[in-house]
Amino acid sequence: MRHLVALSDLSSSEIEAILAIAADLKSKFVRGVREPLFPGRMMALLFEKQSLRTRVSFESCMTHLGGGSMMLGADAGFGKRESIEDFTRVLSAMVDVIVVRAKSHSTVEDVAAHSTCPVVNGLTDLDHPCQALADLLTVRERFGGLKGKKITWVGDGNNVARSLAVGCAKTGAEFAIATPTGYELAREFVDQLRADCPDAAITETTDPREAVDGCAAIYTDVWASMGQEAEEEQRKRDFADYQVNAKLMGAAPSDAIFLHCLPAKRGQEVTDEVMDSPQSLVVEQAANRLHAQKGVLAWLLGEPA
Ligand code: CP
Ligand code: NVA
Repeated sequence: MRHLVALSDLSSSEIEAILAIAADLKSKFVRGVREPLFPGRMMALLFEKQSLRTRVSFESCMTHLGGGSMMLGADAGFGKRESIEDFTRVLSAMVDVIVVRAKSHSTVEDVAAHSTCPVVNGLTDLDHPCQALADLLTVRERFGGLKGKKITWVGDGNNVARSLAVGCAKTGAEFAIATPTGYELAREFVDQLRADCPDAAITETTDPREAVDGCAAIYTDVWASMGQEAEEEQRKRDFADYQVNAKLMGAAPSDAIFLHCLPAKRGQEVTDEVMDSPQSLVVEQAANRLHAQKGVLAWLLGEPA
């Protein structure tokens, strides 16, 4: 049995396999075919933070695959009525897969340690693996592959940036990141990634214009993630030069796409002009969560698509 707690849990060939399944199931889905690969399988969603895309894409994709899902709200008492170990042992005896969105990454690790069914990280402070798989699928579709494609992150070195960096390193895409000083990816994280993927092309800078030179995609996210609301005003000042606007898009090749995991704070990290431009694939990217996660479920639940 496997879990998807961090994207680094997956090998390069596993990521490629998940993306191939996702693309295949998507091509069938757009022709109106929903393959019931998992009839009767049940998914539980356990979320400590707000969500639109992750919750809806997981619930929809499990239904498309012939299974069912349930969102466990605060009344389930996760972390309050009983130990995480007892909660997880009982829950995993009743369902086939558990998706967890947690404030702390260690909570998802705890659930995975005690679960008798696969556990998927639906976002933590450190990782958002399902988002990165949808992002890779989006770039792969637009450019016909990932190898050698430069994906540039502009903004905070956060959870989404980390997963994307791992995804790029494992698929041969180049990852460039421009952050203000103090908001870089953690040094130990980058060192570990370079050790795990010696051929990875990773560049770090404080200059967004340098980072977008020659890129295929410019990606940004909110400057203050969930849980960092108290830092929002300070971060607005620190990130003021890191907005993705028409001027920055103009420094990238004309066929570069704009990506954002959403939700966006329009007028902060990205302007309306960029969000609503033909280069923006943010809605297609969000919709790809549905397809990428079908690939994840097919991989985790052990059924060849
Ligand atoms: N991108 C993403 O995970 O969105 P939600 O927070 O709405 O799930
Ligand atoms: N970095 C953001 C992503 C939301 C999908 C957050 O953690 O709030």
